[in-house]
Amino acid sequence: MENKITIAVDGFASCGKSTLAKGIAKALDYAYIDTGAMYRAVTLYCIENEVNINDDNAIQSALDAIDIRFKTIEGKNTAFLNGKNVEEDIRKMFVSNRVSEVAAVSLVRRAMVRQQQEMGKEKGVILDGRDIGTVVFPDAELKLFMTANIEVRTQRRLLELQNKGQSITPEIIAKNLQHRDHIDSTRADSPLKQADDAIVIDNSNLTENEQLTMCLALVKIRINS
Ligand code: DC
Repeated sequence: MENKITIAVDGFASCGKSTLAKGIAKALDYAYIDTGAMYRAVTLYCIENEVNINDDNAIQSALDAIDIRFKTIEGKNTAFLNGKNVEEDIRKMFVSNRVSEVAAVSLVRRAMVRQQQEMGKEKGVILDGRDIGTVVFPDAELKLFMTANIEVRTQRRLLELQNKGQSITPEIIAKNLQHRDHIDSTRADSPLKQADDAIVIDNSNLTENEQLTMCLALVKIRINS
């Protein structure tokens, strides 16, 4: 496949977006940008520095002091906040519990979207998030919108956290996922919604391989069309 395209993968929390996006990036040798990790890094900074997210001046000063970068470490996409590896911390529950509130702040969104557009300006890139196909790259050649039922999403997230040694009940996870979906979908600024030209994938009953095969076929179609 010679011609490179921009791919947007949006959808609900813990519905396999990042696994699929990373799989496509690897298969096609595309750059992968985890935009959720950027909102998580801002949230971690705000928690650690007790930033009042309702105060625009405080938020702007925080954004001016934040530098987010990604590096590949042992083959894994790893987030750095002001030079510190925060990949583990940003996935913890204390960040998950606050991230949607921080991601709803317009100043935060403006700064992150600008950075994402800069990072993804070359073709041959796949971004996963909530507003990629609607706001960040509305002209992306391929837009996927992922969904799965809440039981499947809870089990996936539970397994992921257990593998990292975090003990948590399925009830707490389901509550967090539903809470985040609600805030993400109802916020005033660029809410999570399916782009009109997105292809919806409900992966409740699909294996990772099945999704990957399907999406690589979609990429091929887009490149050849
Ligand atoms: O993809 P994730 O679950 O790591 O994302 C964490 C949060 O960040 C999610 O609840 C909403 C927010 N987010 C967003 O508002 N816009 C994006 N493009 C990506 C994530």
